[in-house]
Amino acid sequence: MTHAFPVYLLLGGAALIYLLFYPFGKRMAKDQLQSIGLTNHAGMVPELLRKKRDKAHPRVTIWEFRNQSIPLAEWEDNRAAIEAALDISIIKMTYGKGKSRVLVYAVPAQIDLPEILCWKDKYLSPESFVLVLGESLLGPVTVNLAHIPHILLGGSTGSGKSVLLKLLLMQAMKKGARVYIADFKGGVDFPPLWNRDCRICFEETDLLGLLTDLVAELERRKEIFRTAGCSSIDTYNKSTGESLQRLIFACDEVAEVLDKTGADAERKKLLAQIENRLSTIARQGRAFGIHLILATQRPDASIIPGQIRNNMDFRVCGRADSVLSSIILDNTDAADLIPKDARGRFLLHDGTIFQAYWFEESDL
Ligand SMILES: Nc1ncnc2c1ncn2[C@@H]1O[C@H](COP(=O)(O)OP(=O)(O)OP(=O)(O)O)[C@@H](O)[C@H]1O
Ligand SMILES: [Mg+2]
Repeated sequence: MTHAFPVYLLLGGAALIYLLFYPFGKRMAKDQLQSIGLTNHAGMVPELLRKKRDKAHPRVTIWEFRNQSIPLAEWEDNRAAIEAALDISIIKMTYGKGKSRVLVYAVPAQIDLPEILCWKDKYLSPESFVLVLGESLLGPVTVNLAHIPHILLGGSTGSGKSVLLKLLLMQAMKKGARVYIADFKGGVDFPPLWNRDCRICFEETDLLGLLTDLVAELERRKEIFRTAGCSSIDTYNKSTGESLQRLIFACDEVAEVLDKTGADAERKKLLAQIENRLSTIARQGRAFGIHLILATQRPDASIIPGQIRNNMDFRVCGRADSVLSSIILDNTDAADLIPKDARGRFLLHDGTIFQAYWFEESDL
């Protein structure tokens, strides 16, 4: 009995704290949401049912609301106001229990992504063929080229595209891929060091030659995979014991090689051929381990043809205006959610915001 006393005391204390504070939290949430006008037609405010830790991401709290029939889209429209009202940074919002609950995944507003995150070699993923881009509040942001073969990267000037592009290429090389780069910006972004390990081309005829070779390699692989009865580069390498390299073609400003305005007939023909080769790789490259990483800063929807764009499923956009954001992500979120002075801050097609790793040439 005497031993049980402290336990009773502890439980009693905990219950008291719960009674004192939790209803207050609920009431506070209700008042705050009322004050920003998040109500249904009858004037009812969402009710906070519980807050719990997200087991998969210990920093994240899940706020579970009875949504009083207020659709998720309306919550999304009020995202910034909800963040201010509840003093949180929202990571995502989803329905729960059918559509009667809304789950708000959030961290305290004081927790934010750092402005600089330095790359370390230990971040290199051991998995084939996973590349790491940076970190969101949920943890590392990665892309597996074996599943999503091509990357479209957008952002206005100074947003951090070239740094991110080079971060990805550096990892791809460390993982044994062969990298090809089209650089029409005069080599400033790719100092001579890059020439050592990748093939860089600086002008259009050379580029057409390079892409023609890549398409020929694609056709060759198609043939040998068919003969070996394999459907992908990984299964081919595994069953034959060969080690075919993944091939990655990167272009830092793809609008330069796709924009035909002002070109004479001869150049137009050349550019059309370049576009045709890129399109073939975009459509068929996945199984054969041939990938595209294309970056652009131009807010012009007509520049990237549908055939190419529709096959670039991994979309990333840095600081951008609403037109560029719409071209890359099909929504204006990059313009709305990424601060104007942010560098290396990107938004993923699935709504994840992340800080890309900062990487310097010396890391090569
Ligand atoms: N991940 C990052 N973390 C912090 N700062 C970064 C990051 N990436 C880029 N920056 C900063 O932003 C500057 C511009 O980056 P970068 O050259 O990659 O931009 P960009 O989008 O390629 O611009 P442009 O379109 O003009 O080529 C860099 O010099 C650096 O100071
Ligand atoms: Mg650049």
